[in-house]
Amino acid sequence: MGASTPRILVTGAVGQIGSDLTLALRERYGATNVIAAGHRTPPSPLLRDSGPYDTVDVTDVESVASAVQRHHVDTIYHMAAVLSAVGEAKPQLAWTVNINGLYNVLEVSRELGVAQVFCPSSIAAFGPSTPRDQTPQETILRPTTIYGVSKVAGELLCEYYVRRFGLDVRGVRYPGIISSETLPGGGTTDYAVAIFYEAIAQGRYTCFVRADTVLPMMYMPDCIKATIDLMEADGSKLVHHADFNLAAMSFSAGELADEIRKHLPNFVCEFKPDGRQTIADSWPRSIDDSAARAEWRWEPAWDLPRMTVDMLTRLRERHAAGDLYRQK
Ligand code: SER
Repeated sequence: MGASTPRILVTGAVGQIGSDLTLALRERYGATNVIAAGHRTPPSPLLRDSGPYDTVDVTDVESVASAVQRHHVDTIYHMAAVLSAVGEAKPQLAWTVNINGLYNVLEVSRELGVAQVFCPSSIAAFGPSTPRDQTPQETILRPTTIYGVSKVAGELLCEYYVRRFGLDVRGVRYPGIISSETLPGGGTTDYAVAIFYEAIAQGRYTCFVRADTVLPMMYMPDCIKATIDLMEADGSKLVHHADFNLAAMSFSAGELADEIRKHLPNFVCEFKPDGRQTIADSWPRSIDDSAARAEWRWEPAWDLPRMTVDMLTRLRERHAAGDLYRQK
């Protein structure tokens, strides 16, 4: 941790990553120093009651600026975004939220002297012409989804603010994130979360990608660790800033179902690909994250077998308590 305690604003705090991240940041820096910001979706009782909560519309620059001033914010984790599948249904909304929202966060940070900004990118920054195995840090970035287009433009915009204005912007290209607390909303990798919930609740799941679809994935504890570690890393050692490749594990949807079946032998998984298959097919199968390992000592802790045990244990407990689909 740095010399002084940061005053943090988390946009998208009600989302899949934002909710777990907010709780982890509150644990680390003190609850009152971490302001959770949501927009339309109401916060869970846990998020609302464990520290400050505010409403921020990232597409409205005044809304972002007033939240930064009101709460004396010096650090922003900008997690608000429209994901890949919803983005294909609503491309204009995806551009507005992902690009105008990021621009507003960066401009407010520059004007009001915010010290540090985290902005996530994604494996969606890659496209069909990118090498799909052990995808290098520096490679072809020609995505075919509006979400991916917004992520590439966002990476470049962040890099521009680093060079032109000396703003300390950092970010990683997250793989699909698997978690047990808050469901993801509208992504292509959502099947890797839904399969666990449905295995526990119904004993069966219909997967929207083919069994042989391999994508890079990561368990939430690694995602949170990577995010905070990068923000706390020595800035002078960073060659890259907002576009770090990040990896933990890669597996096919069929392998995931098989791993669950080791613990739930009667689990039935069917595969009925829909439009999201095309998106999945345009993304890498595995990622070379050696730049993150070299520049800020990134190292994942969770693999497929351990993650599966942990997910099933946590979701079983929630199911037994009758709150599997209820936000804590
Ligand atoms: N998990 C995201 C999605 O599927 C990718 O960043 O859209």
